[in-house]
Amino acid sequence: MCGIIGYLGERQATPILMESLKRLEYRGYDSAGVAVIETGDGTRHTSVTKSEAKVDLLIAKLKENMPTGTVGIGHTRWATHGKPTIINAHPHADCHGRISVVHNGIIENFAEIKAELESLGHEFTSETDTEVVPHLIEQYYKGDFLLAVRKALQRIKGAYALAMFSLDDPELLVGARLNAPLVVGIGEGEYFIASDITAIIPYTKKVLILGEGEMAAVTPLGPEGSTLDGQPVDAKIVHVDWDVAQAQKGGFPHFMLKEIHETPEAAANAFRGRMTDDGLVNFIEFAISDDHLRRYHDVRLLGMGTSLHAAMLGEYVIEDWAGIRARAEDASEFRYRRPTITDETLTVVITQSGETADTLVGLHQARERGSLTLAITNVVASSAARDSDGAIYLHSGPEIGVASTKTLVAHLVTQYLLALRLATAHGRVSLERREELARGLRELPDKIRRVLDNSTDIARLAHKYSRFRNFMFVGRGINHAVALEGALKLKEISYLHAEGSSGGELKHGPIALLDPDFPVVAVCTESSTREKMASTVHEIVARDAPVLALVSEGDGSLDDIVTDQIVIPAADEATSAVLSTVALQLFAYHVANELGRDVDQPRNLAKSVTVE
Ligand code: AGP
Repeated sequence: MCGIIGYLGERQATPILMESLKRLEYRGYDSAGVAVIETGDGTRHTSVTKSEAKVDLLIAKLKENMPTGTVGIGHTRWATHGKPTIINAHPHADCHGRISVVHNGIIENFAEIKAELESLGHEFTSETDTEVVPHLIEQYYKGDFLLAVRKALQRIKGAYALAMFSLDDPELLVGARLNAPLVVGIGEGEYFIASDITAIIPYTKKVLILGEGEMAAVTPLGPEGSTLDGQPVDAKIVHVDWDVAQAQKGGFPHFMLKEIHETPEAAANAFRGRMTDDGLVNFIEFAISDDHLRRYHDVRLLGMGTSLHAAMLGEYVIEDWAGIRARAEDASEFRYRRPTITDETLTVVITQSGETADTLVGLHQARERGSLTLAITNVVASSAARDSDGAIYLHSGPEIGVASTKTLVAHLVTQYLLALRLATAHGRVSLERREELARGLRELPDKIRRVLDNSTDIARLAHKYSRFRNFMFVGRGINHAVALEGALKLKEISYLHAEGSSGGELKHGPIALLDPDFPVVAVCTESSTREKMASTVHEIVARDAPVLALVSEGDGSLDDIVTDQIVIPAADEATSAVLSTVALQLFAYHVANELGRDVDQPRNLAKSVTVE
């Protein structure tokens, strides 16, 4: 996600903000900005400088006109609401430019708060969700900035890490967090607020970690932690001895592992603010009426690589939940066929980058044939988003490892929401079923955390299996795509031969490959074809191939049959498919790591394939 830095101390803030923003660049961003309190001639004002592009451009602007002052905040923005423009870049301010705020996260109820504030006369300038924060604080401000911040934060739902100041209280810097990380760095006579230890590591290694729903009031006397309603909290101060490279990876050895550990948050961000407890889905960026949606009886999902596997899972749930014809298509093949697309077809392009050449051509062709087009992508204002009739964003934050991990999880969750949306519009889902599916999605982040807690066991199995040179991944039903993706992930980062097959297809040819040196990874978790999959496992075992089975917690039926098992939390089949996917990402990561591969930048691969 975005990067945040705040400074309060005895030195000039601007050079420190500039250096810290440079260190936050690795996270990926599209625009940047700083705000510094300038004092002189008995007056005080906020100097705001923004760049709609890189930090270097921001630094060039700052060098031309360097703000002087010892309190300031800075931000690198990864667009979620509104395009990457100067106006949407942070910091954002209230109506009178007295309160400045930088934000990382998503404010779920911003539309409702914005409407309320507009009716009270507040004027907004940007398309962002963030801008409601300074206006809401302004609305509550009655001479006590900290109190106004507390009141505002109690209204806000969603995820945030915030750093903010007010010209009315120039020796106070406030940080707050909920479902997004934020730390306070404690130096000698100076203090920092940062989304990421990387930003502050050259200045201090003494860090106060804020807990969920906590805030810090930082003054020249030091930081004071409290809950949002003002109860003091004990400071959790740690000493960090990472270097900058370790800090960028959050202490993980590779971005890929860090990003796998971000999958619970990616799942939560994908449904945040889009789904009620009874499973009614509303995509703010793709607001379309039930009447309009009922016109579409055919859904085409186009993608490549991991995104094609995501599309296959989308195909499964749209057919299963909404009873609508759905087809996942390899976009590079689709573009050379004469597809039977009509104005009753909804074409959905699945692309984390939004720039994959084959997927874009497929999108253009579908549009030319009169289809309604929708992009599901992680990059705001990417080509796929711009060229489609509508776009739904993943809100996963930048993904740096070449292998897609957290964005795949977000793609799955987003398509589950789309399937629910279609099922509701077409009247194909009962209230009870909607509630059940919504509950499954809400429980997903915690269940993914439990898969991650099992990482040591998966690493142990990866160590054991890394001696093999060939792998077969097998699944049925919803888990067929999970198996294909497991094989892709393993081959792309470990360079081992891995192929995927449906359980049924296996005995029509691929089974000939199996022997004691050709293990099978069998996805046997909860699914409507679970019993059939057990039969497939028996067929494999009869060929003496080692079997590593993924099973749901509480299912002991394969205990004496398979060689090894990875146990995932019990869940419905759609949720289980996500959990198995994360377990297989971990398995691939640990095998590749055992083999000493360049996990983040595997040979011959690019993060985004922008040529045919
Ligand atoms: C997945 O790990 C790969 N990086 C690759 O298959 C990728 O999913 C594919 O190139 C599509 O990319 P996109 O999602 O950006 O369109």
